[in-house]
Amino acid sequence: MQALLSILAVSAAMAAILWVDVRRRRFRARSVSPLAGLDLAAPAVAAGAALSRLFVRPEPAWPLFSAGALIGAYLWQRGERARQTPLAEGVIGAELLIAGGLAVAIHRWIEDAAAPVLQVGAPALVAGCGVVLLVAVRRRFRRRDAVRRVLDHAVHHGSAAKPEYHRPTPECPQPNRWRMLDTMTAEIEVLEFLRTLVTTVKPRLVVETGTFLGISTLYIAEGLRENGFGKIVTCDPDPEVFARAKDKMDASGLGDWIDYRCQPSLEIDVAGTIDLLFCDSLPELREPEVRHFLPQVNPNGLILMHDASSHLRTVRAAALRLEKEGLLSVVLLPTPRGLVVAQKRDRTP
Ligand SMILES: C[S@@+](CC[C@H](N)C(=O)[O-])C[C@H]1O[C@@H](n2cnc3c(N)ncnc32)[C@H](O)[C@@H]1O
Repeated sequence: MQALLSILAVSAAMAAILWVDVRRRRFRARSVSPLAGLDLAAPAVAAGAALSRLFVRPEPAWPLFSAGALIGAYLWQRGERARQTPLAEGVIGAELLIAGGLAVAIHRWIEDAAAPVLQVGAPALVAGCGVVLLVAVRRRFRRRDAVRRVLDHAVHHGSAAKPEYHRPTPECPQPNRWRMLDTMTAEIEVLEFLRTLVTTVKPRLVVETGTFLGISTLYIAEGLRENGFGKIVTCDPDPEVFARAKDKMDASGLGDWIDYRCQPSLEIDVAGTIDLLFCDSLPELREPEVRHFLPQVNPNGLILMHDASSHLRTVRAAALRLEKEGLLSVVLLPTPRGLVVAQKRDRTP
């Protein structure tokens, strides 16, 4: 009877951990893939294994309880990481197999060095399967385009505000004071800055390169709507990304302010003078984009280049090069990912 009660108590604890994990990770997918299910179950399984060493067995096994508790805490932390930024599905489950299998194998070997080979070999084999799974899921993940990975993550976990992911830099040592929705969309404070900039300088024509989910586009369009005039032309050549952004923009009620194109930035045809150019496509494209659009930019207009932190280098170096060539006057805003605010040098007095 006692054993049955213990089993029920451990199962209830596992179910509670699983329930809290599902809720905290805001898992939104209707159908969870087997690998994602394994990841979700991993902390609860580790905790259940740890608790069963104390309460279900006749003799408490403290070393295995401690190992299970540590592994559970680590996997819980990994779940938090997977909530913040994309992590290959199956990685957390694979880590459970590796750490759990090794813990049991080592414990058995220490307890009885002469134990039958199978007793140590079986958990070691489980750890080996974990390694194979880890390598396989990581490989598959790396093959997926970086933009699509973030898109998948946003689709599965939603885009709730969370602390900024970018590492500290000399110019921005505490990035966690900023917030982000995902690692592709500009920081929330930068989005708010874009909207305020639009209501401040009142551009007639804004060009944005790199739409992604259309969030920065919507912030800019909100500014245009508040002004009561203007247009934003935004472009992204990825059809899957573009389709999602289009749905979002169509549902936003801001469609009248947006001209969206599923095209690469250097191929879009923009008529008229650009009052605000926001370059946020691929880092290596930002410099060609500025050079391409510069003749069309209003001499009193603004040019923004995102991802110009000293860590991300490419864009920062491009902006400084354009300044050195006498084409731009550049200010480097010390945001987590870095933002260049620039103006043409040959502007009218
Ligand atoms: C950093 S994200 C844009 C984020 C968005 N501006 C925001 O803050 O909400 C970069 C996007 O650039 C797009 N991209 C890639 N190549 C491009 C190109 N040649 N022209 C325009 N966009 C491009 C990618 O598909 C990706 O969606």
